[in-house]
Amino acid sequence: MKAIVYRDNGGPDVLQLVERDLPAPGPGEVRVRVAVSGVNPTDWQARSGAAGPTRFPEVTPHLDGAGVIDAVGAGVERSRIGQRVWLFLAAAGRPTGTAAEFTVVPAEQAVPLPDQAGFDVGAALGVPALTAHRALTVAEDGPRRLRPGALDGRVVLAAGGAGAVGHAVIQLARWAGATVISTVSGPEKARLATAAGAHHVVNYRAGDPAAEIRAIAPDGVDIVAEVALGANLALDLAVLRTRGTISTYANDGGRPVELNVVQHMVLNARLQFLVLYTAGPRARAAAAEDVAAAVRDGALPVGEEHGLPLVRFPLERTADAHRAVERGVVGKVLVDVTA
Ligand SMILES: NC(=O)c1ccc[n+]([C@@H]2O[C@H](COP(=O)([O-])OP(=O)(O)OC[C@H]3O[C@@H](n4cnc5c(N)ncnc54)[C@H](OP(=O)(O)O)[C@@H]3O)[C@@H](O)[C@H]2O)c1
Repeated sequence: MKAIVYRDNGGPDVLQLVERDLPAPGPGEVRVRVAVSGVNPTDWQARSGAAGPTRFPEVTPHLDGAGVIDAVGAGVERSRIGQRVWLFLAAAGRPTGTAAEFTVVPAEQAVPLPDQAGFDVGAALGVPALTAHRALTVAEDGPRRLRPGALDGRVVLAAGGAGAVGHAVIQLARWAGATVISTVSGPEKARLATAAGAHHVVNYRAGDPAAEIRAIAPDGVDIVAEVALGANLALDLAVLRTRGTISTYANDGGRPVELNVVQHMVLNARLQFLVLYTAGPRARAAAAEDVAAAVRDGALPVGEEHGLPLVRFPLERTADAHRAVERGVVGKVLVDVTA
């Protein structure tokens, strides 16, 4: 089979297209013929060594993907062979990601993909949708699970709603019944966040975004899904309701965070940090189940018309796919693996 591998950390040029033997699924695992592989910032961060040196002699990158199960290991129902699936955390703690014609994952990390959902949808789910789910389910007053109605009456602020995670936050929050506000940096991203389903968009670089958000949500925002805590903490606190939650999944821009302890205390604010790798199996399993339900409801479409342009590369150009993610291309970067 064709596979992309790297042996040492470094720039995108360390990625090589090679031929490898088909991997065999072990007990509790499935083998998947990958149709589309999804690329996330964590993939180039792992490749570059920014997230620490690689632990394996050879790594096939990428956590996310979608395809068809073609073999199962001991203990897995043979009826799963032929099932269309989306994958999450494929390369987490293992050297076998989705940038290959076949990959092997624990059976529970291959989630059934309904016939009406394309492989592009499936490959775009993993990291963004599971992160968004966690961001929306860590508030003191709940909910812990998402379904239609779970966020009725709540106001969610999706920072950077034209980003891959921001897009998933908008879609899942909207599916669950929230009023969704998204911040964006300009009109093109406003168009995308609106297409994703945001009820309101606010340009965080112009005017008085806090006043605009307060005008939309006079009682304050219940949950902020934050991509740039250092840049946005003052704004978040200015719009957060009492006992509200700031769910922080990144600090893009890298601005240092200085906490005004009294301000957080007075608000009884919850500042929740999150990263998928250490969220724990229960939270990840719950997220995968709820995201699968949202997919069945058709709530997580992708593509420009749904607020997430697709930027595609063939497998042999995976290095260019990494370059695109690294420079912050707008939309979802996908690698076409098999036809
Ligand atoms: N914790 C986790 O488990 C987890 C999971 C997934 C991703 N992440 C991290 O989350 C970040 C985003 O990932 P992604 O895949 O969504 O990337 P992406 O598609 O490139 O989106 C990033 C978005 O953030 C926006 N942004 C940057 N600074 C902002 C600010 N000050 N205020 C509001 N929006 C801002 C950008 O838009 P503008 O530049 O136009 O504002 C862009 O739309 C990355 O750092 C990634 O590593 C963490």
